[in-house]
Amino acid sequence: MNLSTLRKLIFEKNILSFLRLSGQTQSLYRCAFATAAGSSGVLNLLSSGPRAAPEIAQGMKLGSDKLHALEAWLECGVKAGELALSDGRYRLKGKLSRLLAQPRNGISASLFEEVTRYHYDAILQAPRKLRDNDSYTLDDQDGELIARSSRILEPFVEEAVDWAFAGRRPRSVLEVGCGAGHYLRYMKQIAPQLEVSAIDYQASVVDAARRNLSGWGVNDVLVEHADVFSLDDSQRYELITLHNNIYYFAADRRDALLRKVRSLLAPSGRLLLTSSCQGGSPAVAALHLWWSLSDVPGGLPDKRQLQQQLLDSGFTDVQLKQLLPGESYYGFLAS
Ligand SMILES: C[S@@+](CC[C@H](N)C(=O)[O-])C[C@H]1O[C@@H](n2cnc3c(N)ncnc32)[C@H](O)[C@@H]1O
Repeated sequence: MNLSTLRKLIFEKNILSFLRLSGQTQSLYRCAFATAAGSSGVLNLLSSGPRAAPEIAQGMKLGSDKLHALEAWLECGVKAGELALSDGRYRLKGKLSRLLAQPRNGISASLFEEVTRYHYDAILQAPRKLRDNDSYTLDDQDGELIARSSRILEPFVEEAVDWAFAGRRPRSVLEVGCGAGHYLRYMKQIAPQLEVSAIDYQASVVDAARRNLSGWGVNDVLVEHADVFSLDDSQRYELITLHNNIYYFAADRRDALLRKVRSLLAPSGRLLLTSSCQGGSPAVAALHLWWSLSDVPGGLPDKRQLQQQLLDSGFTDVQLKQLLPGESYYGFLAS
């Protein structure tokens, strides 16, 4: 490069400002590569030792016609510092990829993938989506990934369950939107005599919950595939739980949901609801944004508004508990 080119770059193109961004761009490349390598199984494959590109293609079930493009992708990993290439074999190099590859970091890896896949996308796409009237749908989410990352909340929801059981232990519980069924097992562990029923809206989730329960040796929990609005009140429960799913209901349906839940409660029955609420960390803000951009409008609840909605729907003694210190994650217990 001659002096004239250098002068143009510095004084006309302000190249120095771009060079100042190099840390951020490198970090974007690292995050994108490590996320894709994690979800495609490449981190797992390389954690057992160096591999040549054809072996990686085989592990990813790609035909030989894809080898050229696969090598271009792996080269990005090398240039980002996440992989090293020697003697034609790739190995894990970067701190990020090595951390995500460790099985004991599985929940953190899922959270990281949720951030790069959904939070980042929502922040990046929001202006365009708003302009083009384009909404996310539930199909845009990988349910299994969300189930894995949500496991970070288990200790906090368990604490909320303990809170609801303290003093007044219910005899029957209905869990609405039970997901993988973890909290059904927890309730049976702390109260083996408890009658536990559960529903979920998605058939595949119900199948997974039934499989999980049977694998855990919990055989007396009834899990049904149903929409909460379709339940009749022939059966009443002393406690109804709704964990991490109020935002699956559009804001204008939440009143109807709370009234429906109330109609399924036995006299003096209670509702335990846990949810991320507006106003927390960047992760909670991005979750609120994703749901606000979805075809289930409303986003995360505002905690005071939800408290008022519970009162307006006929609940009394609505108690609010911050479950995660420093984060906008709350439990609501209402009679
Ligand atoms: C984020 S998951 C939470 C699962 C579980 N409660 C947990 O905390 O791990 C939300 C669940 O609510 C279920 N759900 C959404 N709308 C529902 C409805 N109308 N009736 C029953 N389940 C519903 C979804 O199918 C999904 O499995």
